[in-house]
Amino acid sequence: MCGIVAYVGNRQVTPLLIEGLKRLEYRGYDSAGLAVVNDEGIHVGRSVGRVSVLEAMVNENGGFNGTLGIAHTRWATHGAPSEPNAHPHGGVTHEGHRIALVHNGIIENYSTLKKYLIKKGHTFESDTDTEVLSKLICELYQGDIEKAVQAALREIDGTYGIAVVCDREPHTLICARKGSPLIIGVGENSYIVASDAAAIISHTSQVITLEDHQVAKLCAGPEDKLGDGGPWAVQFKTTTVDNIPVTPEVTQLDFDLEQIELHGFNHFMQKEIYEQPEALRNCLRGRLDHRDGRVVLGGLSRYSRELIRAKRFILSAQGTAYHAGLIGEFLLEDLAKVPARCEYASEFRYRNPIIEPDSVAIAISQSGETADTLAALREARDRGALALGVVNVVGSTIARETDAGVHLHVGPEIGVASTKAFLGQVAVLTMMSLYIGKRRFLSDEVVRSYITELDQMPGHIERVLEQFDHIRACTEHCIDRDNWLFLGRGYNYPVALEGALKLKEISYIHAEGMPAAEMKHGPIALIDQGMPVVFVATQGSQYEKVISNIEEVRARGGRIIAVATEGDERITQYSEDVFYVPAVPEALQPMLTVIPLQVLAYHAAVLRGHDVDKPRNLAKSVTVE
Ligand code: M6R
Repeated sequence: MCGIVAYVGNRQVTPLLIEGLKRLEYRGYDSAGLAVVNDEGIHVGRSVGRVSVLEAMVNENGGFNGTLGIAHTRWATHGAPSEPNAHPHGGVTHEGHRIALVHNGIIENYSTLKKYLIKKGHTFESDTDTEVLSKLICELYQGDIEKAVQAALREIDGTYGIAVVCDREPHTLICARKGSPLIIGVGENSYIVASDAAAIISHTSQVITLEDHQVAKLCAGPEDKLGDGGPWAVQFKTTTVDNIPVTPEVTQLDFDLEQIELHGFNHFMQKEIYEQPEALRNCLRGRLDHRDGRVVLGGLSRYSRELIRAKRFILSAQGTAYHAGLIGEFLLEDLAKVPARCEYASEFRYRNPIIEPDSVAIAISQSGETADTLAALREARDRGALALGVVNVVGSTIARETDAGVHLHVGPEIGVASTKAFLGQVAVLTMMSLYIGKRRFLSDEVVRSYITELDQMPGHIERVLEQFDHIRACTEHCIDRDNWLFLGRGYNYPVALEGALKLKEISYIHAEGMPAAEMKHGPIALIDQGMPVVFVATQGSQYEKVISNIEEVRARGGRIIAVATEGDERITQYSEDVFYVPAVPEALQPMLTVIPLQVLAYHAAVLRGHDVDKPRNLAKSVTVE
């Protein structure tokens, strides 16, 4: 969604804000803006488009000098992407002081509040819900910006991560959160606030993660202005919105700047595709015990009895994480022999679900901040399920709200198209299924053989990636086609869904994924001469059935692209292009078969000239429902 960065300290703020916005740009990129406070007041700059447009505008205009500022990169929810709708928004208090605010989230009762504020004499320049909050703070301001923010937030329904400044208090930055992530980096003479760690890590690795309903007051300035500390003093205070003091916990960030630079790759997506062997090694590290033939998941050990007893698993997620969850459904039933269902979190949360006793809910999310996934998890937990998380971002909201869980440890994922997180999610769900299966019905021998196979998966992925250029050449043949189908069966049916999602989200080519047999029930009507149809056709229990489906498509002129098992010569009779993956047990195939489809989507987006890492209309983390 939107990204926030804010700073108060002893350095010039504008370059810091621009650098931070660039690191957060994957969260939203339809417009950007900043506000800098100095002795002359608040200077606001806003522009439509990428952060580079804002940077050029700021450099041209000058005047943005100061050591306190807030900035924002937007992904439109209320109001089209336009300069008036870009953040910061602001207002003037009764005494004539100016405030400026940046916001990530949605103010649900904004129209009621807007009517009230209009009656009070406020005028509005934008179509946004955020401007309502900024005017409400002005309305409630009585000489103390912290108190005004607290009072305003008490009136708000919805979600927010905010940073606020006021020209009357030029050394004070206020921030607060409910439902939208906000992290405070604690520097030597400064504080930097951001929606995620990517904007903080180059400054400090000491962070405070603000909790819902908390407000932080961060001050930095010459000691005579703050009356504390050395020549440059800093002060920090956290309260609830009801002004009850809270003692914050300072923690250490667990990744470094190097992990989020491009390192010679053209795009983060390409880098993250290539990082997958190493990401998987990190995900598996310390979790496969060859000596005792078991999976070690420290995060689950406190609940191993509940997991053995569990009668049903409910997995919920969105997008790519949902596809990983569908594979998890197969894995849990196949390996752990326990009923499992994966649902879109957005549907689960509103359908009054029946949660039987001894149910376990698993929320799957790269970011750990997806609004629907978080809400589904809360719903399941409130109805008595044990709440587990399969999450990448340590310290994220979902990670903190679960009873237990397993982190992916695949490193930060910056590209909007999820790649290595999918791999990590499937790997963790595989390990969870073996962990539970071993305690239920799986023989030691079977668990041992899976552990050996899992250990070899990173090397197998390296082999698949050797076809990077070959996949590009095949993609070129079909790049002018606007409709694609992705088909698979069993474990590879969710991979087909994922292949279609990858292609459409970054290349804007229309693609549909479905079970291969479902094609005959309607979609086969779409197939005409040369239509690209991607079959995930690896050898396994349904191989012959998939071959029959391939024949059906070929008979209607479709162009077959197959993902097949190394050594399968037969498939070449039916396919124009083949991408090979090493032979592994069916349950592990998705971790390999998805790789060529990620690469295909990447090449299609590049060949069509699109911005691979920042596809139109999308944001990395969807923190609104
Ligand atoms: O952070 P999450 O894993 O919860 O995100 C879920 C989806 O928004 C995400 O997977 C999305 O579908 C990606 N853009 C897919 O590449």
